Amino acid sequence: MQARNIMEDIVIKYLDEMLALRFDLCTCEICRQDIIAYVLSRLPAKYITTDSGTIHAIMQQLRLEQSSLILKELAGAINIISKQPHHEESHDRNQAYKLLMEQIKVDRGADFSHYRDKVLKRRIALRMRSRNANTYSEYLQVLIHSPEEYEKLFEVLTINVSSFFRDAVVWDHLKTQILPELIARKKQQGVWPRKIRIWSAGCSHGEEPYSLAIMLYELLEKEKVEINVEIIATDIDKACLAKGKAGRYDQMSVKDLNPYYLRRFFIPINDEFQIVPHVKEFVHFKELNLIHDPGIMGVDMVICRNVFIYFNRSLQEYLIMKFHGALVRDGFFVMGSSENLLGEARQVFENVNRLFRIYKKIIVEY
Ligand SMILES: C[S@@+](CC[C@H](N)C(=O)[O-])C[C@H]1O[C@@H](n2cnc3c(N)ncnc32)[C@H](O)[C@@H]1O
Repeated sequence: MQARNIMEDIVIKYLDEMLALRFDLCTCEICRQDIIAYVLSRLPAKYITTDSGTIHAIMQQLRLEQSSLILKELAGAINIISKQPHHEESHDRNQAYKLLMEQIKVDRGADFSHYRDKVLKRRIALRMRSRNANTYSEYLQVLIHSPEEYEKLFEVLTINVSSFFRDAVVWDHLKTQILPELIARKKQQGVWPRKIRIWSAGCSHGEEPYSLAIMLYELLEKEKVEINVEIIATDIDKACLAKGKAGRYDQMSVKDLNPYYLRRFFIPINDEFQIVPHVKEFVHFKELNLIHDPGIMGVDMVICRNVFIYFNRSLQEYLIMKFHGALVRDGFFVMGSSENLLGEARQVFENVNRLFRIYKKIIVEY
């Protein structure tokens, strides 16, 4: 009777799952076998006879007991082997990736060179998979022969997930502390007409600027003061901006919205919800590439949330300083909950609420 190591079956299964979307590294048979051999050499073997009637139960038990160890070993092995495969191909793969990114820039003027490679590769892999392309070169051919694929690719690369009042606690703080302070400042100003200007950078479909507009409308109504509001909502993605301009959202987009806000600030039209005109008019949408285009100057607040995560460190530092330049003295800067001030920016912004990533511009006198 033949005995076999069922640990190998489990390793292969996990490996196939882990490699399914890894077009960024070589998954050829040589590398696959190297990874399997490396991992098996580091795990205890589990031999059973092939006619064992309880093979399924034994495998399940083994998975339960060893899965975290197997996954850890596999991640390490993939990392090691892909850095130094036993053949020349890895160089070609990097070259092909560079060529692909160059072609995207030539064809569509979209420069992703400052984006984090890891994020880009993961997103491109999604499109490669749905177009059955196994290498970057194959995917490049898809783009050349079916240019409509570009729209799909940009959809995944710009990642425009958003929602109204995303991170409720942060929005509560804006409503109770930050926006009232802005209103109070304007009330003290002798300048007429009084205006609050806010830049929502990377605004996606408008959920973020409309959330601000709703809050400001309510606060100004309560205070009974006359202050104009201008929220300049910018994004690189034309389709997003068109949706924002229309101000119409489907059921899914408003499903987590406070029912009071939904009743008061949206008009149901068929299956959709249209933002009311007196809030809509606060928001002006504009196409703007944060990397290449000039910023919106003289704003009281910049809100740029969940955009930095896609950019490399030096671009993040550059953008934070760009926002600093855009703000008026004491202007507020709001980042996403997983984003951080970097480099020089730590000296020119003061913490207002570190947890909620809210900062205030300071001017350092040298
Ligand atoms: C995840 S969404 C964030 C939306 C919103 N700020 C929020 O937090 O819910 C990221 C947005 O950044 C935009 N974006 C990505 N790169 C950009 C660039 N270079 N210039 C302007 N906008 C960009 C995307 O199009 C997308 O709409």
